[in-house]
Amino acid sequence: MIARRLATFLAVLTMLAVAAVALDPAPAGAQTGGQVPGDSLGSTSDADFWRQIRGGTQGQVSIPNASSGVLIQSEGDNWRAVRNGPLSTYGAWLLLGTVVVLAAFFAIRGRIRIEHGRAGVTIERFKAVERFAHWLMAGSFVVLGLTGLNLLYGRYVLKPVIGADAFGAITLFGKYAHNYLSFAFMAGLALAFVLWVVHNIPHKSDLMWVLKGGGIVGSAHPPARKFNAGQKILFWLVMLGGLSVSLSGLALMFPFQFELFAKTFAALNVFGLDLPTSLTAMQEMQLNQIWHTAVSVFLIAMIIAHIYIGSLGMEGAFDAMGSGQVDLNWAREHHSLWVEEVEAQEPDGSAHRHSPAE
Ligand code: HEM
Repeated sequence: MIARRLATFLAVLTMLAVAAVALDPAPAGAQTGGQVPGDSLGSTSDADFWRQIRGGTQGQVSIPNASSGVLIQSEGDNWRAVRNGPLSTYGAWLLLGTVVVLAAFFAIRGRIRIEHGRAGVTIERFKAVERFAHWLMAGSFVVLGLTGLNLLYGRYVLKPVIGADAFGAITLFGKYAHNYLSFAFMAGLALAFVLWVVHNIPHKSDLMWVLKGGGIVGSAHPPARKFNAGQKILFWLVMLGGLSVSLSGLALMFPFQFELFAKTFAALNVFGLDLPTSLTAMQEMQLNQIWHTAVSVFLIAMIIAHIYIGSLGMEGAFDAMGSGQVDLNWAREHHSLWVEEVEAQEPDGSAHRHSPAE
């Protein structure tokens, strides 16, 4: 009896529901035939609606950060794909390639020796302030390079080896080291620029140096002033690359404060280019990150080669940045014009100092 009544009740309920739907097929607020509820983007289909959202439609939010009113910022996808794709991959190939080329060079050429042996007499190559500038720049650069590479590759290289906890701790510490030491790097860079820029202006002897392969290829010792053409190239790469990395790094450290790319693009458009100048704050950050990483990885590759030639690769070179005194024969072989200049300034021979026999 109770079961029959329940069945009748359910049947009536079902009929009422069917009738309600039949009388009002589109209840208020439901989406029909591709129409967007509220019609906030005008009469548009579903596909158009999502296309506009994907295009970065700016909605309204009640907090000061207007960019949070963008529901989907699709450039973020592109940025991540570039960072984790070509940027990381080509960067790794460049760094590994540099190490392989240097190892091959060492295997073939060996250590570049002082051809006439040590003279036992030295000449001052770098004053204390110059060595201070170099090591301030170099020491901070090495930490910045290692902690930066950890951000790019650490999760693939280090994390599987030391575990997630240790990797997390190292990466956090590394991030602070990276942020704070960047100021030491900028100071070292500025000081090195002031001290060395006069010695890095191109000179006609540079052309001859390049044409003779710099004495690195072959055994000639083309004449050079205080810095040879290869060193001048490194100097300008470090200065311009370092400035660029510093600016993009500051823009990453103080987010949304600068419009480096919009302003640079506007300046470049003077040359008839059609670069976009109305970038969102988020796009600025993404471009800064890609640029900062690409220039840094390139500089790291250059510096690996520089460290090689300044230590293992060439006998007598390290002394220049170690004690500041280099052997006279080394100086005559690699920087003959500079030795002549120094000796001309101090004709009484006071430029020379006797070094203890080795
Ligand atoms: C960390 C290991 C490094 C070593 C062993 C090293 C060694 C040297 C040496 C021996 C010189 C003098 C060369 C000469 O007398 O002709 C020199 C010069 C120089 N170094 Fe370094 N360096 C190192 C790192 C760096 C870094 C990280 C930078 C830049 C970010 C740098 C930038 C320069 C510049 C611009 C010069 C002057 C131009 C030149 O000699 O190429 N160095 N370095």
